[in-house]
Amino acid sequence: MCGIVGYTGSGSRSASASGSGGGSAAVREAQDGDAAGLAVSTRPLEMVLEGLKRLEYRGYDSAGVALVGPGSEHVAAAKKAGKLVNLQTELSEHPLPEATAAVGHTRWATHGGPTDGNAHPHLADDDRLAVIHNGIIENFGELRQLLAAEGATFRSETDTEVAAQLLAREYRAAGDLTAAMAATARRLRGTFTLLAVHADAPGTVVGARHDSPLVVGLGEGENFLGSDVAAFVAQTKEAMELGQDQVVTITPTSVTVVDFDGRPAEGKRFTVDWDAAAAEKGGFDSFMDKEIHDQPHAVADTLLGRTDSSGRIVLDDLRIDESVLRAVDKIIVVACGTAAYAGHVAKYAIEHWCRIPVEVELAHEFRYRDPIVDAQTLVVAISQSGETMDTLMAVRHAREQGAKVVAVVNTNGSTIPRESDAVLYTHAGPEIAVASTKAFLAQITAAYVLGLYLAQLRGNKFPDEIAATFDELRDMSRKVRTVIERGEYVRATARSMAGADKVLFLGRHVGYPVAMEGALKLKELAYIHAEGFAAGELKHGPIALIDEGQPVFVVVPSPHGRDQLHSKVVSNIQEIRARGARPLVIAEDGDDDVRPFADEIFWIPKAPTLLQPLLAVVPLQIFAMALATAKGLDVDQPRNLAKSVTVE
Ligand code: G6P
Repeated sequence: MCGIVGYTGSGSRSASASGSGGGSAAVREAQDGDAAGLAVSTRPLEMVLEGLKRLEYRGYDSAGVALVGPGSEHVAAAKKAGKLVNLQTELSEHPLPEATAAVGHTRWATHGGPTDGNAHPHLADDDRLAVIHNGIIENFGELRQLLAAEGATFRSETDTEVAAQLLAREYRAAGDLTAAMAATARRLRGTFTLLAVHADAPGTVVGARHDSPLVVGLGEGENFLGSDVAAFVAQTKEAMELGQDQVVTITPTSVTVVDFDGRPAEGKRFTVDWDAAAAEKGGFDSFMDKEIHDQPHAVADTLLGRTDSSGRIVLDDLRIDESVLRAVDKIIVVACGTAAYAGHVAKYAIEHWCRIPVEVELAHEFRYRDPIVDAQTLVVAISQSGETMDTLMAVRHAREQGAKVVAVVNTNGSTIPRESDAVLYTHAGPEIAVASTKAFLAQITAAYVLGLYLAQLRGNKFPDEIAATFDELRDMSRKVRTVIERGEYVRATARSMAGADKVLFLGRHVGYPVAMEGALKLKELAYIHAEGFAAGELKHGPIALIDEGQPVFVVVPSPHGRDQLHSKVVSNIQEIRARGARPLVIAEDGDDDVRPFADEIFWIPKAPTLLQPLLAVVPLQIFAMALATAKGLDVDQPRNLAKSVTVE
């Protein structure tokens, strides 16, 4: 939610010497004596624009940049409502000067509509200071009144401008941007990452974080700040994670971290394990299409290194004492959106394999309902970004109550793993499209691994049973690829349904969360009213929605599964068909029972019942993407959404 980029340097390894070499951008010596050694170039603007392009999935209501260089009287800034392309057009019509440092912002609007005026950066101190912000400043009303009483005038409706004015005031008092940022941070309530540049400090970008993400990219003769590593991964893989309540100051050759009281602090260095190409479209029309095709890898990579030579599951990153895990008497999964549906699948698998009760709770509901949580409770927080504020707050609440928390997260260097007791990373690689696909499959895979590990630890299953299930899990990557290869039939069906205005989804058992995820994908991407129901619930109400020609997706369980699940769902298909519905059926290869009752059948390979979600959801993802594309919609950046929701 809001993408933030900061850059300082020229890309030259010896930025303080000749001003040549290293960087691709045009570099020339600064003339200004006070800032000797800083070379102005086009690179700061290029770097923040590249970072914004990679972070645009975080919000696309507006975009803006601010630049500083030696001797400049003012910050040079440009900002435009709408997607990044609008800012790029503005910059080509009204170019900005070369610079030594820059900040850039892509916005998901909270305070104030998505207008040019409310776009970041916000300027203060006679336009010598520029500030960008991610988060919500909760006490902005009282601060605004206070500043206005002292004569400050405001040009926007945003909470951010209040922070900019406050920072300007603190800077006038302290004469130092880092100290001023710390003093400002101490005055703010809510959540924030702030970045600032000042014309007085042309080689410096200062940042502060409180409950919102910020990572440092470490270059040579240049340094970066970003909401996540995607902002700079094409330039450097060396990064530094910042802790809560820290202020970071970067120059081309230094990174300094202090806490909000100005005491020295340290970030944690790490190396990014994505390559930049993983964050590119790789020849596909959209990130979403590419990410759907990445899914076999997401599943396989999430399983890598999870067993030892004897086939036992080893989870090295799970730093929770085994005796604590053996004593767990309840598991609560907390998550939002797609990740919560992965949690529903986890519930079926973990309860079946481990005989531990599992609750699944939307993270924002969990925290406020006074949940019963104690030292015997294991909370599993699932999040692609590792930054979702609702999930982070649930994690904190659970730990305050004495529970142990395992994070299932995709993004290295993010906040939720750092605040949890243990982490099980999914290895889906960067997910850029706002609607989640490969992260979902990776989350489900990781949840299976966790379930099998707990079953092994607690002796619920024999080692050979666990090894056999793990082998079946390994084989799922190949089967996911088969489903993707069959995608053209799904696409053709979706194109023929571009005029649909309501689509229903039914499933039982693990097919139920798949149905809900299928509906969510269609809502997010195609803006169609879509609902997922438990097939057994149909007769208790939803069946009234069915009239002539109503498309209804039905996820059919394996005919080889247990408990008459399959025959019950086949009966449900007949019930809706008798009322005029058009059943679109997802069924296992060779399932002849469904043929007479389905309008369309999307075949998936045979798989054990509990593992079937990894396959059954794929046609639904492809369907939503193809239908949205047929409607001419942007599948990577659906309206009103943001990928990483860092406000409550
Ligand atoms: C947003 C995204 C969803 C995502 C949810 C949870 O709403 O649009 O696609 O499922 O956040 O995100 P997380 O990063 O915690 O998995």
